[in-house]
Amino acid sequence: MDKLMIEGGVPLTGHIPISGAKNAALPLMASSLLASGKHTLANVPRLRDIRTMQRLLGHMGAESEHDDQFRIDTSHIHRPEAPYELVKTMRASVLVLGPLLARYQRARVSLPGGCAIGARPINLHLKGLERMGAEIQLEHGYVIAEAKRLQGATITFDQVTVTGTENLMMAACLAAGVTVLENAAREPEVLALAEYLGQMGARIRGAGTPQITIEGVSDLKPGSYTVIPDRIETGTYMIAAAITGGHLTLSPCRPEHLEAVTGKLKAAGAAIKVEDGILDVQAASDIRSIDMKTWPFPGFPTDMQAQFMSLMTLGNGVSLITEQIFENRFMHVLELKRLGADINLDGRNAVVRGVSSLSGAPVMATDLRASASLVLAGLAADGVTEISRIYHLDRGYETIEQKLEAVGARIWREKDQE
Ligand code: EPZ
Repeated sequence: MDKLMIEGGVPLTGHIPISGAKNAALPLMASSLLASGKHTLANVPRLRDIRTMQRLLGHMGAESEHDDQFRIDTSHIHRPEAPYELVKTMRASVLVLGPLLARYQRARVSLPGGCAIGARPINLHLKGLERMGAEIQLEHGYVIAEAKRLQGATITFDQVTVTGTENLMMAACLAAGVTVLENAAREPEVLALAEYLGQMGARIRGAGTPQITIEGVSDLKPGSYTVIPDRIETGTYMIAAAITGGHLTLSPCRPEHLEAVTGKLKAAGAAIKVEDGILDVQAASDIRSIDMKTWPFPGFPTDMQAQFMSLMTLGNGVSLITEQIFENRFMHVLELKRLGADINLDGRNAVVRGVSSLSGAPVMATDLRASASLVLAGLAADGVTEISRIYHLDRGYETIEQKLEAVGARIWREKDQE
């Protein structure tokens, strides 16, 4: 197992290239099950979760390769099943359920099980598929789903769910009749998926709004698509500039995907501008403490909460951070306190009192975004920070230490004797 070593205190300067979005690539890969044949996806990041999805599709019979592009052939799917061994390592595996049921009329998908950041049930996915006429049973930890042909239906989500919206949108593409998804997720990744489904021949209106209408068709044709830049990776590096007193440019990026993050960083004092698609982030001499609440897109993304908290640990006052999406997404707090941060938790609220400096120490990563927050705090801290269990980080950040080293960070990977 690896650990990451960071000697902090260097203002980062230069350019960081942004990779394709993990949370867009995963549903796009799953959507290849909807249309038999050769699909080509460009700008797919090289991440552990991407390899897991590739293995999952391979387990079903798909042939794929990932060099400068990700190419997959779904002509010979013979086992519409997602085994526990793979699903337990990545919850997003549930994204194969809708496409398998719609295309092969049956699916056997392991229930995802618990997660560090919250219970994360999939009841809304299953409820929606049942509304479309699927027979669903839970047996031995597996969802067994069957449907001769899914039927269009109107489905109102009790709460906004990103992969729930994606799963049902994919299922509805091959259903008989019209499906309307109400209170749907509006994340850019949902829109990207709808764009590719449309290119394959699906009839979708309203993606990116709370109401999505899908008119089912009898079949879809494989195609090619370029994955959007990762807005969470971009946001993470924007904070790397702000927390180290640095100046970074980032591209490619889609500023419209980052308005909530940009707004909060400007309020915290950073100077941010976009020129020719390049995001320019200049740190302020003084970090202003501000409050923040996470909310579904276009609100402030929960996947940026931990990273934003790292910045607020060095703010000039008190910041109240409220996590409204997941019930247990403060695992990074105790680790940040090990670096000298002053944070008090009260249920879904964290009161962060800014300190003048952080000091390096051994800390432990607990989930993907928590590990990113520890990297950011380590970049700002005096001395060396040692982050163990960084396999969490490798799930969602492509070559992070190379990208940070290129802009001046003193960061390296070591084998962990743990
Ligand atoms: C997606 O997860 C992302 N993952 C998550 O990113 C992200 O944190 C989350 O959306 C919220 O933005 C991918 O896209 C692969 P949800 P998802 O369903 O779809 C509850 C990262 O760091 N809920 O929108 O699983 C749920 O418990 C990851 O890259 C139900 O109760 O999240 C949560 O409280 C972490 N029942 C809320 O809804 C359901 O059936 C939102 O979850 C579904 C969800």
